Amino acid sequence: MGGIAIIGLQWGDEGKGKITDYFANFVDCVVRYQGGNNAGHTVVVNGKKYKFHLMPSGVLQRKKVVIAHGVVVNPEVLLNEIEMLEGNGFKVDLMLSDRAHVIMPYHILLDGAEEKFRGKKIGTTKRGIGPCYADKIARHGIRVCELIDESLLKEKIETIMPVKERILSAYGMKMDKEFFGRYVEYGKKLKKYVGNTISFLNSIIDEKKVLFEGAQGTLLDIDYGTYPYTTSSNPTIGGIFTGAGVSPKKIEKVIGVAKAYTTRVGEGPMPTEEKGKIGNYLAEKGGEYGTTTGRKRRCGWIDLVALKYACKINGVDEIALTKLDVLDGLEEVKICIAYEYEGKSLQEFPSSIKVLENCKPIYESLPGWNGSAGKKRYEDLPLNAKKYIEFIEDKLNTPVKIISTGAGREETILL
Ligand code: IMP
Repeated sequence: MGGIAIIGLQWGDEGKGKITDYFANFVDCVVRYQGGNNAGHTVVVNGKKYKFHLMPSGVLQRKKVVIAHGVVVNPEVLLNEIEMLEGNGFKVDLMLSDRAHVIMPYHILLDGAEEKFRGKKIGTTKRGIGPCYADKIARHGIRVCELIDESLLKEKIETIMPVKERILSAYGMKMDKEFFGRYVEYGKKLKKYVGNTISFLNSIIDEKKVLFEGAQGTLLDIDYGTYPYTTSSNPTIGGIFTGAGVSPKKIEKVIGVAKAYTTRVGEGPMPTEEKGKIGNYLAEKGGEYGTTTGRKRRCGWIDLVALKYACKINGVDEIALTKLDVLDGLEEVKICIAYEYEGKSLQEFPSSIKVLENCKPIYESLPGWNGSAGKKRYEDLPLNAKKYIEFIEDKLNTPVKIISTGAGREETILL
Protein backbone atom coordinates (compact mmCIF):
# COMPACT_ATOMS: atom_id res chain seq x y z
CA MET A 1 0.00 0.00 0.00
CA GLY A 2 2.52 2.66 1.10
CA GLY A 3 2.88 6.26 2.11
CA ILE A 4 1.29 9.52 1.07
CA ALA A 5 3.05 12.76 1.97
CA ILE A 6 1.23 16.04 2.53
CA ILE A 7 3.67 18.91 2.40
CA GLY A 8 3.32 22.67 2.68
CA LEU A 9 4.76 24.49 -0.34
CA GLN A 10 4.85 28.03 1.09
CA TRP A 11 5.60 29.54 4.53
CA GLY A 12 3.23 27.27 6.44
CA ASP A 13 -0.46 27.82 7.13
CA GLU A 14 -1.37 26.52 3.67
CA GLY A 15 -4.37 24.62 5.02
CA LYS A 16 -2.61 21.26 5.40
CA GLY A 17 -4.81 20.42 8.40
CA LYS A 18 -7.96 20.39 6.29
CA ILE A 19 -6.33 18.40 3.47
CA THR A 20 -4.87 15.88 5.94
CA ASP A 21 -8.21 15.55 7.67
CA TYR A 22 -9.84 14.93 4.28
CA PHE A 23 -7.35 12.21 3.27
CA ALA A 24 -7.21 10.69 6.73
CA ASN A 25 -10.59 9.20 5.89
CA PHE A 26 -8.95 6.93 3.31
CA VAL A 27 -5.83 5.87 5.23
CA ASP A 28 -5.07 3.72 8.26
CA CYS A 29 -2.55 5.86 10.08
CA VAL A 30 -1.47 9.54 10.15
CA VAL A 31 2.06 10.52 11.15
CA ARG A 32 3.73 13.76 12.15
CA TYR A 33 7.45 13.67 11.45
CA GLN A 34 8.87 17.13 12.30
CA GLY A 35 8.22 20.40 14.09
CA GLY A 36 6.42 20.75 17.36
CA ASN A 37 3.73 22.90 18.87
CA ASN A 38 4.86 25.83 16.74
CA ALA A 39 2.42 24.35 14.22
CA GLY A 40 -1.23 25.18 14.30
CA HIS A 41 -3.87 23.21 12.49
CA THR A 42 -7.47 24.30 12.44
CA VAL A 43 -9.99 21.74 11.25
CA VAL A 44 -13.73 22.42 11.10
CA VAL A 45 -15.94 19.35 11.57
CA ASN A 46 -19.74 19.71 11.67
CA GLY A 47 -19.33 23.43 12.26
CA LYS A 48 -17.07 22.91 15.30
CA LYS A 49 -13.52 24.25 15.15
CA TYR A 50 -10.69 22.05 16.47
CA LYS A 51 -7.27 23.58 16.94
CA PHE A 52 -4.17 21.43 17.25
CA HIS A 53 -0.53 22.10 17.69
CA LEU A 54 1.00 18.68 18.11
CA MET A 55 -1.54 15.99 17.46
CA PRO A 56 -1.75 14.75 13.84
CA SER A 57 -4.97 16.04 12.27
CA GLY A 58 -6.04 12.44 11.44
CA VAL A 59 -7.13 12.01 15.03
CA LEU A 60 -10.46 13.63 14.09
CA GLN A 61 -11.08 10.79 11.65
CA ARG A 62 -10.51 8.43 14.60
CA LYS A 63 -7.42 6.95 12.95
CA LYS A 64 -4.24 5.63 14.49
CA VAL A 65 -1.91 8.60 14.87
CA VAL A 66 1.85 8.61 15.32
CA ILE A 67 4.16 11.31 16.60
CA ALA A 68 7.49 10.19 15.20
CA HIS A 69 10.99 10.93 16.49
CA GLY A 70 11.59 13.95 14.25
CA VAL A 71 9.01 15.90 16.26
CA VAL A 72 9.94 17.92 19.36
CA VAL A 73 7.33 17.31 22.04
CA ASN A 74 6.05 19.65 24.70
CA PRO A 75 4.50 17.06 27.03
CA GLU A 76 2.12 19.50 28.68
CA VAL A 77 0.69 20.59 25.32
CA LEU A 78 0.33 16.98 24.19
CA LEU A 79 -1.51 15.97 27.38
CA ASN A 80 -3.84 18.96 27.05
CA GLU A 81 -4.67 18.05 23.45
CA ILE A 82 -5.39 14.43 24.44
CA GLU A 83 -7.67 15.66 27.23
CA MET A 84 -9.47 18.13 24.93
CA LEU A 85 -10.08 15.43 22.31
CA GLU A 86 -11.27 12.85 24.81
CA GLY A 87 -13.54 15.49 26.33
CA ASN A 88 -15.10 15.89 22.86
CA GLY A 89 -15.71 12.17 22.47
CA PHE A 90 -12.67 11.25 20.37
CA LYS A 91 -10.74 8.10 21.27
CA VAL A 92 -7.04 8.92 21.01
CA ASP A 93 -5.16 6.02 19.43
CA LEU A 94 -1.68 7.54 19.63
CA MET A 95 1.84 6.16 19.47
CA LEU A 96 4.54 8.57 20.60
CA SER A 97 8.13 7.85 19.59
CA ASP A 98 10.48 6.92 22.42
CA ARG A 99 13.21 8.77 20.49
CA ALA A 100 11.36 12.08 20.11
CA HIS A 101 13.04 15.00 21.87
CA VAL A 102 11.28 16.78 24.72
CA ILE A 103 10.85 20.54 24.97
CA MET A 104 12.04 21.56 28.45
CA PRO A 105 11.15 24.81 30.26
CA TYR A 106 14.62 26.23 29.60
CA HIS A 107 14.11 25.82 25.85
CA ILE A 108 11.11 28.13 26.04
CA LEU A 109 13.01 30.67 28.17
CA LEU A 110 15.96 30.60 25.78
CA ASP A 111 13.75 30.99 22.70
CA GLY A 112 12.37 34.20 24.22
CA ALA A 113 15.78 35.48 25.32
CA GLU A 114 17.44 34.79 21.96
CA GLU A 115 14.66 36.65 20.19
CA LYS A 116 15.00 39.56 22.58
CA PHE A 117 18.77 39.97 22.26
CA ARG A 118 19.28 38.99 18.62
CA GLY A 119 20.08 42.03 16.48
CA LYS A 120 17.35 41.10 14.00
CA LYS A 121 14.35 39.12 15.16
CA ILE A 122 13.29 35.89 13.43
CA GLY A 123 9.80 36.24 14.84
CA THR A 124 9.72 32.69 16.29
CA THR A 125 6.65 31.30 17.99
CA LYS A 126 8.64 31.29 21.28
CA ARG A 127 7.62 27.69 21.94
CA GLY A 128 11.22 26.52 22.49
CA ILE A 129 11.42 24.76 19.11
CA GLY A 130 14.80 26.11 17.95
CA PRO A 131 16.60 25.59 21.30
CA CYS A 132 15.20 22.04 21.57
CA TYR A 133 16.45 21.09 18.08
CA ALA A 134 19.77 22.82 18.84
CA ASP A 135 20.13 20.66 21.97
CA LYS A 136 19.35 17.54 19.95
CA ILE A 137 22.23 18.31 17.59
CA ALA A 138 24.53 19.40 20.44
CA ARG A 139 23.70 16.09 22.21
CA HIS A 140 22.19 17.87 25.19
CA GLY A 141 18.66 16.72 24.45
CA ILE A 142 16.24 14.75 26.58
CA ARG A 143 14.18 12.14 24.77
CA VAL A 144 10.80 10.60 25.51
CA CYS A 145 12.47 7.31 26.57
CA GLU A 146 14.20 9.32 29.30
CA LEU A 147 11.12 11.35 30.21
CA ILE A 148 9.24 8.17 31.13
CA ASP A 149 12.08 6.81 33.29
CA GLU A 150 12.35 8.89 36.47
CA SER A 151 15.93 7.96 37.37
CA LEU A 152 17.17 8.48 33.81
CA LEU A 153 15.37 11.82 33.64
CA LYS A 154 16.99 12.91 36.90
CA GLU A 155 20.42 11.89 35.64
CA LYS A 156 19.92 13.71 32.35
CA ILE A 157 18.69 16.91 33.99
CA GLU A 158 21.60 16.87 36.46
CA THR A 159 24.03 16.56 33.54
CA ILE A 160 22.48 19.36 31.52
CA MET A 161 21.41 21.90 34.12
CA PRO A 162 24.90 23.22 34.99
CA VAL A 163 25.30 24.22 31.33
CA LYS A 164 21.81 25.67 31.06
CA GLU A 165 22.10 27.59 34.33
CA ARG A 166 25.22 29.34 33.06
CA ILE A 167 23.57 30.27 29.80
CA LEU A 168 20.39 31.44 31.51
CA SER A 169 22.34 33.55 34.00
CA ALA A 170 24.15 35.27 31.12
CA TYR A 171 20.69 36.35 30.00
CA GLY A 172 19.87 37.43 33.57
CA MET A 173 17.43 34.54 34.05
CA LYS A 174 17.01 31.78 36.64
CA MET A 175 15.39 28.40 36.36
CA ASP A 176 12.72 27.24 38.76
CA LYS A 177 13.76 23.70 39.91
CA GLU A 178 10.21 22.51 40.51
CA PHE A 179 9.91 21.49 36.87
CA PHE A 180 11.54 18.08 37.57
CA GLY A 181 8.47 16.86 39.52
CA ARG A 182 6.14 18.17 36.81
CA TYR A 183 8.07 16.38 34.09
CA VAL A 184 8.05 13.11 36.08
CA GLU A 185 4.25 13.40 36.18
CA TYR A 186 4.07 14.12 32.44
CA GLY A 187 6.22 11.02 31.83
CA LYS A 188 3.92 8.85 33.92
CA LYS A 189 0.84 10.07 32.07
CA LEU A 190 2.38 9.70 28.61
CA LYS A 191 4.02 6.30 29.18
CA LYS A 192 1.08 4.28 27.87
CA TYR A 193 1.37 5.99 24.46
CA VAL A 194 5.13 5.54 24.06
CA GLY A 195 6.55 2.99 21.64
CA ASN A 196 9.08 2.28 18.91
CA THR A 197 7.37 4.12 16.06
CA ILE A 198 10.12 3.16 13.58
CA SER A 199 9.34 -0.56 14.03
CA PHE A 200 5.63 0.11 14.04
CA LEU A 201 5.60 2.18 10.83
CA ASN A 202 7.83 -0.26 8.97
CA SER A 203 5.64 -3.16 10.08
CA ILE A 204 2.48 -1.62 8.57
CA ILE A 205 3.61 0.44 5.60
CA ASP A 206 3.52 -2.40 3.04
CA GLU A 207 0.05 -3.52 4.05
CA LYS A 208 -1.63 -0.29 5.02
CA LYS A 209 -1.96 3.30 3.86
CA VAL A 210 0.08 5.73 5.92
CA LEU A 211 -0.20 9.49 5.62
CA PHE A 212 2.74 11.69 6.56
CA GLU A 213 1.54 15.13 7.60
CA GLY A 214 4.05 17.94 7.25
CA ALA A 215 3.97 20.91 9.58
CA GLN A 216 5.16 24.43 8.54
CA GLY A 217 6.20 24.66 4.89
CA THR A 218 9.04 24.33 2.39
CA LEU A 219 10.08 27.99 2.66
CA LEU A 220 10.46 27.60 6.44
CA ASP A 221 12.69 24.53 6.04
CA ILE A 222 16.03 24.87 7.83
CA ASP A 223 17.92 23.85 4.64
CA TYR A 224 15.68 24.97 1.79
CA GLY A 225 13.87 27.90 3.35
CA THR A 226 14.66 31.58 3.72
CA TYR A 227 17.42 30.97 6.29
CA PRO A 228 17.78 32.24 8.99
CA TYR A 229 14.09 33.22 8.86
CA THR A 230 13.07 29.59 9.04
CA THR A 231 12.05 27.03 11.56
CA SER A 232 14.60 24.49 12.85
CA SER A 233 13.38 21.30 11.17
CA ASN A 234 12.80 19.85 7.69
CA PRO A 235 9.15 20.16 6.69
CA THR A 236 10.18 19.02 3.19
CA ILE A 237 10.05 15.44 1.91
CA GLY A 238 13.41 14.38 3.39
CA GLY A 239 12.09 15.13 6.87
CA ILE A 240 9.92 12.01 6.57
CA PHE A 241 12.91 9.74 6.13
CA THR A 242 15.02 11.21 8.92
CA GLY A 243 12.05 12.02 11.13
CA ALA A 244 9.95 8.87 10.87
CA GLY A 245 12.44 6.20 9.77
CA VAL A 246 10.78 4.91 6.61
CA SER A 247 12.54 4.51 3.27
CA PRO A 248 11.97 6.96 0.38
CA LYS A 249 10.87 3.91 -1.64
CA LYS A 250 7.75 3.67 0.52
CA ILE A 251 6.29 7.05 -0.49
CA GLU A 252 3.82 6.57 -3.33
CA LYS A 253 2.42 10.03 -3.68
CA VAL A 254 3.46 13.55 -2.71
CA ILE A 255 0.67 16.08 -2.34
CA GLY A 256 1.89 19.67 -2.13
CA VAL A 257 -0.46 22.10 -0.41
CA ALA A 258 -0.49 25.74 -1.54
CA LYS A 259 -2.82 28.58 -0.73
CA ALA A 260 -4.34 30.41 -3.71
CA TYR A 261 -2.34 33.43 -2.45
CA THR A 262 0.67 33.73 -0.14
CA THR A 263 0.95 34.32 3.59
CA ARG A 264 3.80 34.45 6.04
CA VAL A 265 4.06 34.96 9.82
CA GLY A 266 7.18 36.27 11.47
CA GLU A 267 10.08 38.11 9.87
CA GLY A 268 11.97 37.51 6.63
CA PRO A 269 11.55 38.37 2.95
CA MET A 270 8.33 37.72 1.07
CA PRO A 271 8.57 39.16 -2.44
CA THR A 272 4.83 39.23 -3.20
CA GLU A 273 3.78 40.80 0.12
CA GLU A 274 1.04 43.43 -0.28
CA LYS A 275 1.17 45.90 2.57
CA GLY A 276 -1.84 47.99 1.53
CA LYS A 277 -5.46 47.40 0.62
CA ILE A 278 -5.04 43.99 -1.04
CA GLY A 279 -2.97 42.61 1.85
CA ASN A 280 -5.61 43.69 4.36
CA TYR A 281 -8.41 42.35 2.19
CA LEU A 282 -6.78 38.91 2.03
CA ALA A 283 -5.96 38.93 5.76
CA GLU A 284 -9.50 39.84 6.80
CA LYS A 285 -11.36 37.71 4.27
CA GLY A 286 -9.02 34.76 4.79
CA GLY A 287 -9.04 35.07 8.59
CA GLU A 288 -5.26 35.22 8.42
CA TYR A 289 -4.41 35.23 12.10
CA GLY A 290 -2.01 32.57 13.43
CA THR A 291 -3.52 29.54 15.18
CA THR A 292 -0.52 29.36 17.51
CA THR A 293 0.35 32.96 18.33
CA GLY A 294 -2.67 34.92 17.05
CA ARG A 295 -0.32 37.15 15.03
CA LYS A 296 -1.71 38.72 11.85
CA ARG A 297 -0.22 37.00 8.83
CA ARG A 298 1.45 39.00 6.10
CA CYS A 299 -0.48 38.46 2.85
CA GLY A 300 0.16 38.83 -0.87
CA TRP A 301 -0.28 37.31 -4.33
CA ILE A 302 0.66 33.76 -5.26
CA ASP A 303 4.36 33.31 -6.02
CA LEU A 304 5.13 30.76 -8.73
CA VAL A 305 8.92 31.20 -8.48
CA ALA A 306 8.73 29.94 -4.89
CA LEU A 307 6.15 27.28 -5.73
CA LYS A 308 8.18 25.92 -8.63
CA TYR A 309 11.15 25.57 -6.29
CA ALA A 310 8.97 23.83 -3.68
CA CYS A 311 7.49 21.42 -6.25
CA LYS A 312 10.98 20.50 -7.42
CA ILE A 313 12.46 19.84 -3.97
CA ASN A 314 9.55 17.72 -2.81
CA GLY A 315 8.84 15.92 -6.09
CA VAL A 316 5.23 17.04 -5.87
CA ASP A 317 2.85 14.78 -7.84
CA GLU A 318 -0.23 16.90 -7.35
CA ILE A 319 -1.22 20.18 -5.78
CA ALA A 320 -3.99 20.88 -3.30
CA LEU A 321 -4.94 24.54 -3.82
CA THR A 322 -6.63 25.97 -0.76
CA LYS A 323 -8.69 29.05 0.06
CA LEU A 324 -9.62 29.77 -3.55
CA ASP A 325 -12.83 31.37 -2.25
CA VAL A 326 -10.83 34.12 -0.50
CA LEU A 327 -10.02 35.55 -3.95
CA ASP A 328 -13.74 35.83 -4.82
CA GLY A 329 -14.83 39.41 -5.44
CA LEU A 330 -11.51 40.82 -6.71
CA GLU A 331 -11.48 42.60 -10.04
CA GLU A 332 -8.12 41.21 -11.00
CA VAL A 333 -5.78 38.62 -9.52
CA LYS A 334 -2.03 38.74 -9.92
CA ILE A 335 0.38 35.84 -10.29
CA CYS A 336 4.11 36.27 -9.76
CA ILE A 337 5.87 34.46 -12.61
CA ALA A 338 9.45 35.71 -12.08
CA TYR A 339 11.47 38.15 -9.98
CA GLU A 340 13.30 41.23 -11.13
CA TYR A 341 16.70 41.56 -9.52
CA GLU A 342 19.20 44.27 -10.46
CA GLY A 343 17.36 44.89 -13.72
CA LYS A 344 17.38 41.22 -14.74
CA SER A 345 14.66 38.60 -14.65
CA LEU A 346 15.27 35.83 -12.13
CA GLN A 347 13.48 32.49 -12.52
CA GLU A 348 15.17 30.59 -9.67
CA PHE A 349 14.37 31.08 -5.98
CA PRO A 350 17.59 32.63 -4.61
CA SER A 351 19.59 31.30 -1.64
CA SER A 352 20.78 34.70 -0.42
CA ILE A 353 18.40 36.60 1.80
CA LYS A 354 19.94 39.84 0.58
CA VAL A 355 19.07 38.94 -3.01
CA LEU A 356 15.55 37.83 -2.09
CA GLU A 357 14.96 41.02 -0.12
CA ASN A 358 15.74 43.01 -3.24
CA CYS A 359 13.68 40.94 -5.65
CA LYS A 360 10.62 42.60 -7.13
CA PRO A 361 7.82 40.37 -8.37
CA ILE A 362 7.02 40.30 -12.08
CA TYR A 363 3.29 39.77 -12.34
CA GLU A 364 0.86 38.46 -14.86
CA SER A 365 -2.67 39.76 -14.29
CA LEU A 366 -5.81 37.70 -14.78
CA PRO A 367 -9.42 38.82 -14.51
CA GLY A 368 -11.11 38.10 -11.17
CA TRP A 369 -14.30 36.17 -10.44
CA ASN A 370 -17.13 35.79 -7.99
CA GLY A 371 -18.84 32.77 -6.54
CA SER A 372 -16.26 30.00 -6.03
CA ALA A 373 -17.08 29.80 -2.31
CA GLY A 374 -18.56 26.49 -1.20
CA LYS A 375 -18.42 24.87 -4.65
CA LYS A 376 -18.02 21.08 -4.62
CA ARG A 377 -17.62 20.38 -8.36
CA TYR A 378 -15.04 21.76 -10.77
CA GLU A 379 -17.73 22.37 -13.40
CA ASP A 380 -19.47 24.76 -11.02
CA LEU A 381 -16.45 27.04 -10.56
CA PRO A 382 -16.54 30.45 -12.31
CA LEU A 383 -14.71 30.39 -15.65
CA ASN A 384 -12.05 32.87 -14.52
CA ALA A 385 -11.33 30.81 -11.40
CA LYS A 386 -10.75 27.80 -13.67
CA LYS A 387 -8.43 29.90 -15.84
CA TYR A 388 -6.47 30.91 -12.74
CA ILE A 389 -6.05 27.26 -11.73
CA GLU A 390 -5.07 26.21 -15.24
CA PHE A 391 -2.48 28.99 -15.42
CA ILE A 392 -0.89 27.73 -12.20
CA GLU A 393 -0.90 24.10 -13.36
CA ASP A 394 0.65 25.08 -16.64
CA LYS A 395 3.46 27.17 -15.13
CA LEU A 396 4.24 24.58 -12.44
CA ASN A 397 3.83 21.66 -14.79
CA THR A 398 1.98 19.91 -11.97
CA PRO A 399 -1.73 19.13 -11.82
CA VAL A 400 -4.03 20.73 -9.27
CA LYS A 401 -6.10 17.79 -8.05
CA ILE A 402 -7.73 19.19 -4.93
CA ILE A 403 -9.35 22.61 -4.57
CA SER A 404 -10.60 23.92 -1.28
CA THR A 405 -13.43 26.45 -1.50
CA GLY A 406 -14.21 26.90 2.20
CA ALA A 407 -13.22 25.81 5.67
CA GLY A 408 -15.69 22.92 5.97
CA ARG A 409 -14.74 19.33 5.13
CA GLU A 410 -17.37 19.19 2.38
CA GLU A 411 -16.25 22.42 0.67
CA THR A 412 -13.66 20.55 -1.34
CA ILE A 413 -13.33 19.70 -5.04
CA LEU A 414 -11.49 16.49 -5.83
CA LEU A 415 -10.40 15.98 -9.42
P1 IMP B 1 9.87 28.68 15.30
O1 IMP B 1 9.49 27.48 14.50
O2 IMP B 1 8.97 28.92 16.48
O3 IMP B 1 11.32 28.67 15.69
O4 IMP B 1 9.67 29.99 14.38
C1 IMP B 1 10.48 30.24 13.25
C2 IMP B 1 9.68 30.84 12.11
O5 IMP B 1 8.77 29.89 11.61
C3 IMP B 1 8.83 32.06 12.52
O6 IMP B 1 8.77 32.95 11.43
C4 IMP B 1 7.46 31.45 12.77
O7 IMP B 1 6.42 32.41 12.62
C5 IMP B 1 7.44 30.41 11.67
N1 IMP B 1 6.55 29.28 11.95
C6 IMP B 1 6.77 28.25 12.78
N2 IMP B 1 5.76 27.39 12.76
C7 IMP B 1 4.88 27.86 11.86
C8 IMP B 1 3.63 27.36 11.35
O8 IMP B 1 3.13 26.30 11.72
N3 IMP B 1 3.03 28.15 10.42
C9 IMP B 1 3.57 29.31 9.97
N4 IMP B 1 4.72 29.80 10.41
C10 IMP B 1 5.38 29.08 11.34
